[in-house]
Amino acid sequence: MQDGKKTLYSAIQPTNNLTIGNYLGAIKNMTALQNDYNCFYAVADMHAITVRQQPAELRAKTLSLIALYIACGIDPEKCTLYVQSHVPAHAQLAWVLNTFTYVGEMERMTQFKDKSARHADNINMGLMDYPVLMAADILLYGADYVPVGEDQRQHLEITRDIAQRFNNAYSPTFTVPEGIFMKVGAKIGDLQSPDKKMSKSAENPNGSVFLSDDKDTIIRKFKRAVTDSGSEIYYDPVNKAGISNLLGIYSVFSDKTVQEAERDFCGVGYGEFKLAVGEAVAEKLAPIQREQARLLEDKQYLNEILKKNSEYASRTAGRTLAKVYKKIGFYQL
Ligand code: TRP
Repeated sequence: MQDGKKTLYSAIQPTNNLTIGNYLGAIKNMTALQNDYNCFYAVADMHAITVRQQPAELRAKTLSLIALYIACGIDPEKCTLYVQSHVPAHAQLAWVLNTFTYVGEMERMTQFKDKSARHADNINMGLMDYPVLMAADILLYGADYVPVGEDQRQHLEITRDIAQRFNNAYSPTFTVPEGIFMKVGAKIGDLQSPDKKMSKSAENPNGSVFLSDDKDTIIRKFKRAVTDSGSEIYYDPVNKAGISNLLGIYSVFSDKTVQEAERDFCGVGYGEFKLAVGEAVAEKLAPIQREQARLLEDKQYLNEILKKNSEYASRTAGRTLAKVYKKIGFYQL
C-alpha cells in the first residue's frame, strides 16, 4: 500500500484486437480508477506467446498497446504501465506457484479447454500454465483488486486459491485479491448477432467494431448492423435486440442516457439512425487514434516511460519474490 491507497492490477494481451466493447469494459474503467488506486497496468506479452505469434507483429503490437493505453487517458506518471516480459519476477514467481497448483485444476479451466480445441496442433505447457502466470502477475504486486472481463473470473478464483494455499502453508505472504468484473462492456452486443457479446473473433467480421477501425469502416459496419422488423426506435432488448444494442452503444459514445437517445431518434428511420450511431463512435475514437499514432512516432518517449516503469515494477515485484524465496527455503546469499 502506498499513500494509503489500495493496489489494483490489470493486464491486456497485445494480441487482442480490441473492440469498442473492450474499450468501454476495460480501458475506460482502468482510466477512471487511476486516481484512487495505486495501479499496475501491463501488456501481457508472456501470455500472448501461449499461442504462436509472428515476432515482428508481437513486438509492434506490444508498443502499440502501450500507446493505446496512454491515448485512452492512462497516465504513465500516475500508473505503473509496463511490459510483462520486462520484469523477470513474473516468470520466477510463476515457477514457484506451479508447485502449489494441481494439474487437474488446470485441466479443468474453461479457457484452457476452449483454446486447446481451437489450437489442437499446439497444446503447449504454457497454454495450460496460463492461469498460474496470471496469478504471479497479480500476487507480485499485492493487488487488492483486479478489474477484468467476466471471462477471467475462473482465473481470478484460482489466483485466490493459490494465494491462500501458499499463505496457509507458510505464513501470510500474499494479499488475496478481489476481482472487479466489469459489466458495461459486456452489454455491447455483436452488430450482426446482437444477442451475442461483441468479440474480437466473431464469425462475421462486420459484427465487431475495433478500436483501430477507421471512420469509413466504422460507418460501413454500423450501416450493415442488423435491426428488427418494425420502424420505431425504442429500447426493448427482448423484442428489439438490434435497435436496443445500437441505442446502448450510442448512449455511451455520446454520453447520453438511453432515454435521451430514444428522444433524439424519435421519428427517425433506421438507416439514418445507424449512420448517427456510427458517426458518434467514429467521432469518439478519432482523437484516441490520432494520439496513439502520434505517440508511436515518438518511440524514444515510450521507451523512456517503459524503462522507468519497469524499474519501479521490478523493485516492487522483487520484494515479494524475495519473501517467497526465503519462505520456501531457497538458500540466501
Ligand atoms: N488473461 C487476461 C486476458 O486475457 C490478461 C491478463 C494477464 C491479466 N495477466 C493478468 C488480467 C493479470 C488481469 C490480471 O484478458
